[in-house]
Amino acid sequence: MRITFLGHAAVLLEGSRRVLIDPFLKDNPSAACAPSAIEAVDFIVITHDHFDHVGDSVEIAARTGAVIVAIHEVAMRLSAAYPQVKTVGMNIGETYQAGGVIFSMTPAVHSSGSGAPAGMVIALDGCRIYHAGDTAYFSDMTLIPDLYGEIDLACLPIGGHYVMDIRQAAMATRAIHPKVVVPIHFGTWPTIAADPSMLEAAVKPTRVNAMKPGESLDL
Ligand code: NI
Ligand code: MN
Repeated sequence: MRITFLGHAAVLLEGSRRVLIDPFLKDNPSAACAPSAIEAVDFIVITHDHFDHVGDSVEIAARTGAVIVAIHEVAMRLSAAYPQVKTVGMNIGETYQAGGVIFSMTPAVHSSGSGAPAGMVIALDGCRIYHAGDTAYFSDMTLIPDLYGEIDLACLPIGGHYVMDIRQAAMATRAIHPKVVVPIHFGTWPTIAADPSMLEAAVKPTRVNAMKPGESLDL
């Protein structure tokens, strides 16, 4: 399984299925590529209803036939506005399985234009990825590996403004104890500048794999 960081909170998982998370590309100054560069996707996960997470989901879903997986209200809103797009609505605590991919929706402590903010644990080809979405640290993160199994890779926001800062992301890392942490949601704009090497220092010996937009990691 290959994970590619596309900038901000956008992440592409490629294995026997392709799962795109929070594809904010067109208006993202740090995007690795344009939405048109995303050629084939099976599922698009939207963690919550903010512009920097919904992003180009509708355009990519309409073009590729990908199914949008999001919390119920976001799925309803998008399917009402864009009937050409396929959506699946979930809720927090639910596990939804399709095409060999297992999606488990987790809480997130944040806000959302509709529905509630969420994170997602995605199991694909024997790898388990946790994308935290936008969130503050919350102590129930300790339950994520208890509920869903060991997390191979956690995408955690570190930008501080709007989301966790480095100190909270270190607490989240200790709560989830993933094998690898990929910092997200920083550096897109000056307001969310952060230095991922500070997270690395704070959580040693846990591996922090900071990626530049466009970089990949094979699990
Ligand atoms: Ni947000
Ligand atoms: Mn955000």
